[in-house]
Amino acid sequence: MALAACAIALLCLVSVSLSAPLACEDLVRPLDQLNPHHLEGKWALVAGSLSHLPYLERFKQRDSASVNFSSNSTEINVSYTRSIRLDNKCMYSSYNITLEGSNFTYDGTDKSNTSASFVHTSCHDCMLMHMNVESGKRQHFYLFSRRRQLEQEEIEGFTAQVECLKMPPPVVMDPTKELCPEETAGDPAPQTEEKTEEQKIERP
Ligand SMILES: *[C@@H]1O[C@H](CO)[C@@H](O)[C@H](O)[C@H]1NC(C)=O
Ligand SMILES: *[C@@H]1O[C@H](CO)[C@@H](O)[C@H](O)[C@H]1NC(C)=O
Ligand SMILES: *[C@@H]1O[C@H](CO)[C@@H](O)[C@H](O)[C@H]1NC(C)=O
Ligand SMILES: *[C@@H]1O[C@H](CO)[C@@H](O)[C@H](O)[C@H]1NC(C)=O
Ligand SMILES: *[C@@H]1O[C@H](CO)[C@@H](O)[C@H](O)[C@H]1NC(C)=O
Ligand SMILES: *[C@@H]1O[C@H](CO)[C@@H](O)[C@H](O)[C@H]1NC(C)=O
Repeated sequence: MALAACAIALLCLVSVSLSAPLACEDLVRPLDQLNPHHLEGKWALVAGSLSHLPYLERFKQRDSASVNFSSNSTEINVSYTRSIRLDNKCMYSSYNITLEGSNFTYDGTDKSNTSASFVHTSCHDCMLMHMNVESGKRQHFYLFSRRRQLEQEEIEGFTAQVECLKMPPPVVMDPTKELCPEETAGDPAPQTEEKTEEQKIERP
């Protein structure tokens, strides 16, 4: 009798530990491995959170955003173009980053107080970037996918990660808003973005 109760209690314990949600530490850890070639091509921004509320407000104004990682990157030197649609205009910026495992830094910037990494996500065709700016005073967390719209449970997975970081609830982009077209060299008057410090800090 005592043995049976004990066995049942054990079973319960086991099933509880199996279904227990991942600890925050695991949920927001950087990827164990990053193959830079997996980054290649275009990703749509599907959701994001920024810890600094004025920036979050501005982030909410975006109609859409995407990044296009170049295919001629090396194991450590990677470049991408970001496009943001805002007030029916497209703004483009290009960045070079240097990878250190799944950590990265923006080339040509003060790296001392900033850290950034590609973070583990349970969504199979997603890419998640985490930035700590000014020694962690501000955090940015951006979820990209090859799809425009994710399943509810995938958004919930992201929300759990955002909660772990104690950041404001994620802003989910409207999937019906058009992405910017590829920037063409022949554009008569390309809309280039004003590169204020803040804009740079807010990337991607
Ligand atoms: C990749 O190719 C593009 C277009 O040919 C070029 O503009 C860019 O500088 C290249 N990037 C690297 C890291 O070589
Ligand atoms: C690649 O990254 C290294 C380390 O940051 C840098 O010194 C080098 O100039 C980069 N190469 C290119 C082609 O950008
Ligand atoms: C990125 O690196 C390429 C190749 O080194 C260089 O031509 C380009 O100007 C750099 N772009 C930026 C935005 O730093
Ligand atoms: C990535 O960054 C974290 C935190 O800044 C650091 O602890 C870790 O050692 C870095 N990993 C690599 C491969 O540089
Ligand atoms: C980095 O942090 C140090 C000390 O907190 C500060 O003096 C410096 O201005 C910071 N640099 C940037 C670029 O934020
Ligand atoms: C991404 O950028 C590359 C050049 O860097 C370009 O050849 C490719 O067509 C772009 N893809 C999209 C979907 O914009």
